[in-house]
Amino acid sequence: MKLAVAILISGSGSNMVQLIKSMDDNHPAYPSVVISNKSDAPGLEKAQSLGVPTKIIDENCIKNNDLDFEKELIKILKVYNVELICLAGFMKILSKKFVNNFKDRILNIHPSLLPKYRGLNTHARVLASNDTIAGCSVHLVTPELDGGPVLAQTEVAIKKNETVESLASKVLIEEHILYPKVLLNFSDQIRKLEV
Ligand code: GRF
Repeated sequence: MKLAVAILISGSGSNMVQLIKSMDDNHPAYPSVVISNKSDAPGLEKAQSLGVPTKIIDENCIKNNDLDFEKELIKILKVYNVELICLAGFMKILSKKFVNNFKDRILNIHPSLLPKYRGLNTHARVLASNDTIAGCSVHLVTPELDGGPVLAQTEVAIKKNETVESLASKVLIEEHILYPKVLLNFSDQIRKLEV
């Protein structure tokens, strides 16, 4: 049985597209659902055009904030029998309770060489620090923001005259390669543990 993966997005979903495309017939996992907390996330249409069901949990329509958001999220995850969650540009922080319930079953991609530059505006902070190397990391999600164990990283050299935009696009290219690789290895490991 293939592992059901949910991909959570908030925006353009370029990492999501690469994850979906990577889960071919021979892959141990399949993209069961894409869930967005933004009704206008451009990634939603991309997922639909790749034949993956989409769900929106619109934060603006949720009265009791995070608690109800996560209740709704759990309902959807159950419907699709989700066993693994990939955060891909998902800009909402999940509660400690939620994360602990899915311990070692949530992956995230972050555009820095963790543990450096957790949180937002990573590329601007990298450049402000005059670093010579940037990169991206895929890590397990724990209650500490961007603080879970790092599974893999790719480094990117920073050139003279690098801008936030040029660095972001170079790092994003590497994200698109790294995340599918980690998903494949991680899904394989889960299946081996279950045998
Ligand atoms: C990526 O840089 C990812 O590392 C960060 O948010 C961005 C999402 O881009 N968490 P996309 O939605 O996958 O295009």
